[in-house]
Amino acid sequence: MSLNVLKIAALAGDGIGPEVMREAVKVLHAVEKKHGIRIQITEAPVGWAGIDAAGKALPDETLALCRQSDSILFGSVGLPDRDPTIPKEERPERAALLRLRKEFGLFANLRPVRLYQPLAHTCPLQPERQGEGIDLLVVRELTGGMYFGQPKRTESVEIEGVQSKRAIDTMVYTTPEIERIAHVAFQSAQARRKKVTSIDKANVLENGVLWREVVTNVSKHYPDVVLEHMFVDNGAMQLMLKPTQFDVMLCENMFGDILSDEAAALAGSLGMLPSASLGARNGQQTFGFYEPAGGTAPDIAGKDLANPIAQILSTALMLRYSFDLENAARGIENAVGAAIESGLRTGDIYTSKDPNARRIGTTEMGSAIAAMI
Ligand code: IPM
Ligand code: MG
Repeated sequence: MSLNVLKIAALAGDGIGPEVMREAVKVLHAVEKKHGIRIQITEAPVGWAGIDAAGKALPDETLALCRQSDSILFGSVGLPDRDPTIPKEERPERAALLRLRKEFGLFANLRPVRLYQPLAHTCPLQPERQGEGIDLLVVRELTGGMYFGQPKRTESVEIEGVQSKRAIDTMVYTTPEIERIAHVAFQSAQARRKKVTSIDKANVLENGVLWREVVTNVSKHYPDVVLEHMFVDNGAMQLMLKPTQFDVMLCENMFGDILSDEAAALAGSLGMLPSASLGARNGQQTFGFYEPAGGTAPDIAGKDLANPIAQILSTALMLRYSFDLENAARGIENAVGAAIESGLRTGDIYTSKDPNARRIGTTEMGSAIAAMI
């Protein structure tokens, strides 16, 4: 139990962000009462909401608020159809999300993928491939690789006398960058089923060779954890064939982006998946940024249709990783489990074939979970 006030910046963003954030805040207030902790939540605009409010995807005041906060609870940003004239560097994905990751050194992205048994029907795999249940953790490096490597630009070139363009992205990793994310993966595995599958493309990429070498060296500090290496193309296939073989999947930035979406599909709905992005601040490893893995889902925004569970489970990760409040975190996860057990379903996880299932909206799901805290 902490006597300090936990200062949380709540950045709801665009699309379904505000409505799922509202439910997460509701649940946090229930946790506050139940666990005797004090939480101060301050909201600020980001994404298109930031552009509308202050002309920038990441307004200065929003960034200042984040700097003064103990952790960031994030909704989602980006509306693909809005204003194509805004340069890509100023669009929310780069100017807010990638900027915040870099700004706060959020190098470790944890994406737990879990298929709840009552939701087995939402998994695209046949029951025999689901085994005893799918439960894996993607540990994605978040501030290196091709997303940030320089040079990164599009330039004009003449090719055989014809004016043309050339786009350049650079994949670059250093030993310390690989080491620190590998430690996160091995430590995560120690708290789970003690297996790390390290993903690379060592048969083609220099980055892959270094990745494999450094991860192997780091593994020597963790004799209780089994390490295996897998090429990324095979990893993508194995996720479909036998996802139960994975415990922790350790990936560089882009491979982790791709494989975590693929893994998410196994849990039936993106609306179920939380994520934590952790960094170092003031020498502390626990400054964190917590967001649902799904996007803004503009097609269902504002209709009380969105599943708030990913946002709610993200608050559980926040309590666990940033504030060391394991009981409160479990309390949220158990309440989500209880809501699902009791048959409550938003549209994305509903099937009429389940006689116990009752289809409800965003607000009712949030209220039900808050009531079960
Ligand atoms: C994610 C998203 C982002 C990423 C985009 C929106 C920049 O896909 O968090 O996985 O690629 O990292
Ligand atoms: Mg992604």
